[in-house]
Amino acid sequence: MDRVPYPTIQQWKSHLDLHSTPFLSSLPKLELHLHLEGTLTPSLRFALAARNAIPLVSTRLNKTFTTLPDLQEAYQLLEPSSVKGPGLSAFFEAYMGGMECLIREEDFYELAWAYYVRAKEMNVRYCEVVFDIQAHTRRGIAVETVMSGLRRAQIDARAKLKVKAQYILCILRDLSLESAMQHYENTALPYKHMIAGIGLDSNEFAHPPSIFGPLYARAKSDGFKTTAHSDVAQPDALVHLKQILTPPLELDRIDHGLDAAGSDELMALIQSKDHGFGLTICPWAYVRHCTEGRLFGSIRRFVNAGVKICIGSDSPAYVESNWVVDHLALLPVEGRL
Ligand code: ADE
Ligand code: ZN
Repeated sequence: MDRVPYPTIQQWKSHLDLHSTPFLSSLPKLELHLHLEGTLTPSLRFALAARNAIPLVSTRLNKTFTTLPDLQEAYQLLEPSSVKGPGLSAFFEAYMGGMECLIREEDFYELAWAYYVRAKEMNVRYCEVVFDIQAHTRRGIAVETVMSGLRRAQIDARAKLKVKAQYILCILRDLSLESAMQHYENTALPYKHMIAGIGLDSNEFAHPPSIFGPLYARAKSDGFKTTAHSDVAQPDALVHLKQILTPPLELDRIDHGLDAAGSDELMALIQSKDHGFGLTICPWAYVRHCTEGRLFGSIRRFVNAGVKICIGSDSPAYVESNWVVDHLALLPVEGRL
């Protein structure tokens, strides 16, 4: 698979460490693409797992982690090549596995609060935080446990940090439409006051957005904004993107969608959208799946075509701790963009 070689990634990282600018850190920011569960740092995961007596294991690596440095090693996730296809990727194994330490209301509160404190430090003024409710209910965690923690953190972030946050309820596309509708009913509707939109994430292979047409139709009629992930270099990326962009789905936003830059038809469709339409782009999340030329060339094409993009951070803990400032900093690295 085409990808940025790991030594190049390391060079970029050390370049950015040496040349971090106060300008970028102090710039007021929006964060529109951030997975709450993707902010779970090894140290917070270690502490929560200890508190809840949850063993820290990786089936993929066939390993139990007993020390924090041990666990930290498993977060070097830009190095291994992620599987794109039916198999469980290194990324998803780590991301889903990490959640097992989240059991009680205060765990969800502390996870969200830790992010809001960091958001404040990065001068993020408004954020839309994605969460995967089904990934918790399928482990036996009640919707109320998750939502109470998220709500308390949202209120505290506003009051104590002046960080405004809304949530995006993201549906796991590898689960059924029935599960999606059930979680729409038991989470999106009762907690509408906390939720800005409905999204679609998880492993895209063989799970086109069109499957979720009834969910999106319902969400739109109830006044939610809609979005879906279109991960980079998926086999059916162009087909999925066209579904997102055209009726009956016609969503308000694309999360990722870098492949659209390689298609004149999709670019024309994007350009025909009204002012409110855009893509969230998270550069560090793509280095495993496309070359340097494709990464920066695609972003350049969007910019030149006047397509609205918003730089986000996706799952920072699982892309070697690259937060929104780091994604922003990567764009002009050595004059690439
Ligand atoms: N969940 C968290 N990060 C994701 C990504 N990049 N794509 C799909 N699902 C995700
Ligand atoms: Zn994402």
